[in-house]
Amino acid sequence: MQLMLGWWAAVFAISATVAASVRFMFPNVLYEPSLRMKAQRPDDYPDGATFFPEHRFFLMKNGKQFRAVSATCTHLGCTVNRIADGSGFRCPCHGSVFDASGAVTSGPAPKALAWYPVTLSRDERLVIDMTRQVSPEEQLVV
Ligand code: FES
Repeated sequence: MQLMLGWWAAVFAISATVAASVRFMFPNVLYEPSLRMKAQRPDDYPDGATFFPEHRFFLMKNGKQFRAVSATCTHLGCTVNRIADGSGFRCPCHGSVFDASGAVTSGPAPKALAWYPVTLSRDERLVIDMTRQVSPEEQLVV
């Protein structure tokens, strides 16, 4: 009986060692969304603002013109909401208000919202590059 118990203990110890070794091969890593996002074709979006929650930005369409503005508040990183009449953005956390160009009009936010370049891919889909910033006036015309 004691010999059997010893064998089971050895099998358990070896199994635990193998399991720990396999687990070691897969480190704890946070996978974040890519900072270059390929969206749909220009005609797939309505005029006005479309919010992309995973990447936290608004795609702004005005006819054939496209721009993208970050929805990340420059104070402490909350997600801003678009003011219903389109006059700007409001942060629900500490009350910062940004005008339609992303400039701070009130509140603790230290700087304007970031604007990202929008380009067209070869397969004619919109590409938003969140690794770069551009001026609010820069836009893609399709
Ligand atoms: S996080 Fe937006 S005002 Fe503080």
